[in-house]
Amino acid sequence: MSEKNPYVPIPVTIDKAIIETEDRLIKTFDLVFRDKEDEKRFKYMPGQFAELSILGKGESPIGIASSPTEKGFLKFTVMKVGLVTIALHELEEGSIMGVRGPMGNWYPAEEMKGQNVVIVGGGFAFTTLRSLLIYLLSHRKDYKDIICIYGARNPGLLCYRDELDEWAKRDDMTLYLGIDWKFGPEGPIEEPAAEGWEPVNLKDPTQTKLEKGKYKFTAFVPQLVQAVKPAAKDAYAIVCGPPIMIKFTIPVLTELGFLPERIVNSLEMRMKCGIGKCGRCNIGNKYVCKDGPVFTYKELQNLPKEY
Ligand SMILES: Cc1cc2nc3c(=O)[nH]c(=O)nc-3n(C[C@H](O)[C@H](O)[C@H](O)COP(=O)(O)OP(=O)(O)OC[C@H]3O[C@@H](n4cnc5c(N)ncnc54)[C@H](O)[C@@H]3O)c2cc1C
Ligand code: FES
Repeated sequence: MSEKNPYVPIPVTIDKAIIETEDRLIKTFDLVFRDKEDEKRFKYMPGQFAELSILGKGESPIGIASSPTEKGFLKFTVMKVGLVTIALHELEEGSIMGVRGPMGNWYPAEEMKGQNVVIVGGGFAFTTLRSLLIYLLSHRKDYKDIICIYGARNPGLLCYRDELDEWAKRDDMTLYLGIDWKFGPEGPIEEPAAEGWEPVNLKDPTQTKLEKGKYKFTAFVPQLVQAVKPAAKDAYAIVCGPPIMIKFTIPVLTELGFLPERIVNSLEMRMKCGIGKCGRCNIGNKYVCKDGPVFTYKELQNLPKEY
């Protein structure tokens, strides 16, 4: 924690607020510390989160979407769902609000040095994966191959679309995007692929031909992982997305040979204090706010079955 009293928020100004998705439910905020000393004290790593607070409304835990290698601001991507997040969406650039953190543990960026990294994200939960990807690219020589597989329901729901286009052009990483629009939950039926998005062979995704330079596919994330077939040797897989995506992605990674201790997931639980005091977020004897939100699949296997 960066402040003396861990319950007191640090004042920040909204420097930039942009609508991220076509449904206008997701916005990205760049927050600037009002006091430069607060900025120096706020040391974080990809995977951590903070409590964002609005006077008179309350606070919400939100993953940090910026990388510590991006200086001068903190980035958060927030879906409008309830009291605090609706109030946040209504704030204009220049407004003052609070940040409490950084909180929780982080992705194993140190441990992954010298290894291949496969990032697998779904929906707007891609936020802390953006942080990780920018961090890895800023320390590019420390890592071997970097593959990023990211999916959303349709192209308009993908976050950071300008950056996705930039990452697709880079030759020191490989990006694959997936969408499931026009397919629906039942599979492809007779639908043609969405324009500009190559179909994945859904009968057997491993038979899909991935031509160099083509990175947009119609498939759910687990099928896209099957089509990409990332090598498990000397590799870590970092997974963040809705629970259903995680549930179906882990068996695919396991089948590919990824070890349970090298499949790393980020969990979202209801929280209050964020610092292990209130007991609102526990799974068995673990507090997601303090012991997580990042857990390996091996750790999850030892938690109560519902997780
Ligand atoms: C570690 C962590 C990281 C998160 N990162 C992000 C992020 O980067 N971007 C983002 O938009 N959201 C993120 N969330 C979820 C976010 O905290 C909740 O959406 C937010 O607290 C809702 O607050 P509210 O006051 O607007 O809604 P409320 O009025 O409290 O609730 C509105 C609705 O949202 C549901 N809800 C509330 N909290 C959660 C939760 N934690 N998970 C699932 N559903 C919830 C409620 O059940 C209710 O249906 C994260 C949560 C955690 C624990
Ligand atoms: S949110 Fe209070 S103990 Fe985790």
